[in-house]
Amino acid sequence: MTDARESLIATARECCARAHAPYSGIHVGAAVRAASGVVYRGNNVENAAYPLGNCAETSAIAAGVQAEGTAFRIAGIAVWATDRNGAVLAASPCGGCRQRIHELAVDGRVQIHFPWQGGEVRTAALDELLPYAFFLPSTSS
Ligand code: THU
Repeated sequence: MTDARESLIATARECCARAHAPYSGIHVGAAVRAASGVVYRGNNVENAAYPLGNCAETSAIAAGVQAEGTAFRIAGIAVWATDRNGAVLAASPCGGCRQRIHELAVDGRVQIHFPWQGGEVRTAALDELLPYAFFLPSTSS
């Protein structure tokens, strides 16, 4: 494992410990390394009105946009998830978060690190997780 990947995963684990997930008991943390080099943090924030909950990746992306504005781009992302007892769960970003990552990934490409079955930590490229991503046609002509 490279140092950069290791450190992003370590940050995602710290974020996971701050999740507000009293309903699902699934605690998720996300660490986004911006093109600027700064790492932004997020965790899931659930709500008693269930659809209002935010994913960890969404929270980290919002933190990056808040800090850097339109310059913000995602160079790398790590996710971590546990159950309410702290046991690690397999968790790659959900479909909605894949689309959110696509929107701001450097050149539409980014490596995503996440815990998978059997205690393995996997790394996948965004286009493996979200082939044929949706994008709007150019409106500039
Ligand atoms: N969750 C995330 O934070 N990220 C994902 O990519 C998938 C799901 C959260 C949402 C909810 O709080 C909990 O995991 C269970 O779905």
